[in-house]
Amino acid sequence: TRELKIPATGLVVLVGVSGSGKSHFARRHFRPTQVVSSDFCRAAVSDDESDQAATGDAFELLHHIVRTRLRRGLLTVVDATNVQPRSRESLLAVARDQDALACAIVLDVPEHVAVERNAARPDRDLAPHVVPRQRRELRRGLKSLHREFKRVHVLTGVDEIDAAVLVPER
Ligand code: GTP
Ligand code: MG
Repeated sequence: TRELKIPATGLVVLVGVSGSGKSHFARRHFRPTQVVSSDFCRAAVSDDESDQAATGDAFELLHHIVRTRLRRGLLTVVDATNVQPRSRESLLAVARDQDALACAIVLDVPEHVAVERNAARPDRDLAPHVVPRQRRELRRGLKSLHREFKRVHVLTGVDEIDAAVLVPER
């Protein structure tokens, strides 16, 4: 097992390409109400989890929920790809505003794992360039990720992800 310290009343930002297992990881380690996902928010504002035109409104809702939960002192997990520095920056700004600690958990699986999993999903029909592009964005941003967050956990490969045990710290 590998113990990952997370802030007990702060923000946990999951980072990983589509198919890396973020939603699966979130379900395994957190209560449903602790997890705010971009899919949920997109569906909430459009009745369609994959409506890309709803992305702006979806993230506005996501940020609103995150801000409210952090203000109320609740552990909050963001389940979205977060591979772009810009997407993480807006979440970090929300955490800073609320004086909340933030940590990142990177789920780094081999490209073929993500691609094969996505191919088996009825709820995902991704163009072939999407996962490779997200992996490039993630790689490019890994260094700055360590500057952005006080604590970054990088889980490399399926076994490390499986072995993770989360330890909330006050
Ligand atoms: P997006 O929402 O598209 O960004 O992907 P995601 O990172 O949330 O991936 P998700 O957790 O939905 O996992 C994708 C598929 O892989 C799902 O069908 C999961 O059941 C499967 N999966 C995820 N994690 C694991 C794992 O640790 N082991 C196995 N065997 N399957 C997994
Ligand atoms: Mg997901």
